[in-house]
Amino acid sequence: MEDNPRFFDLVGQVRAMRRLKPDPVPHDLLMKVLDAGVQAPSGMNTQPWSFLVLQETEAKQWFADRYKTAIESRFGTGKPNNDDDSSTARQFRAVRYQMNHMQDFPVLLIVCGLRDWPFRVPKAERVGLAPANYGAIYPCVQNILLACRAVGLGAALTTMHQVFEEELMERFQIPSEYGVVVTMPIGYPMGQFGSVRRRPAESSTHFDFWGNRPPKS
Ligand SMILES: Cc1cc2nc3c(=O)[nH]c(=O)nc-3n(C[C@H](O)[C@H](O)[C@H](O)COP(=O)(O)O)c2cc1C
Repeated sequence: MEDNPRFFDLVGQVRAMRRLKPDPVPHDLLMKVLDAGVQAPSGMNTQPWSFLVLQETEAKQWFADRYKTAIESRFGTGKPNNDDDSSTARQFRAVRYQMNHMQDFPVLLIVCGLRDWPFRVPKAERVGLAPANYGAIYPCVQNILLACRAVGLGAALTTMHQVFEEELMERFQIPSEYGVVVTMPIGYPMGQFGSVRRRPAESSTHFDFWGNRPPKS
């Protein structure tokens, strides 16, 4: 079978896009992206995802206010120096931009997962709420990120909502059988997609026993 070279280009260009235009995302395009999300695998094909799409100004502002408080309570209000061009400083500036403009982005996608105990937790220890089914939700989220890239939308995976998850669930009437796994601003990007920077798979791969490096080709 032939390789699909466009897939291999695309998968290396799914960067966290944190600067987005306020222009609306057409409904059909959003649904196309979510339909790509639900092609993901899940244990016993239970498909434990549900999406909550925030588009109304008041709802987005509510989320943005709490998101900002959550970031500042964890990372403070300091900013990197303007002349600091390190990747950490650039990422921090992008995170701050995202935080300050969250309410202006056209779509805030809340990805929820049905709660489910991992197999390793014995029945007797299953007390209180199970964690959301992270294992199934992340493939769905990655499909959404890939689909966004394929149709020219920018998106970024965020998890800071964990700081105010209970309040978030109450505000939007998310039933307690679900947990919120990821919140993802989606919109048309202000900048270029560019390529991700990752270590080559070879540096993280062992053959037959840990520490045995791949044969040199
Ligand atoms: C589990 C997980 C949690 C993440 N949480 C956040 C987050 O809260 N805020 C954010 O801006 N990015 C978040 N990211 C995105 C990463 O910061 C980003 O993928 C990484 O820094 C690499 O950057 P790149 O994708 O632009 O190459 C998260 C990614 C993962 C997989």
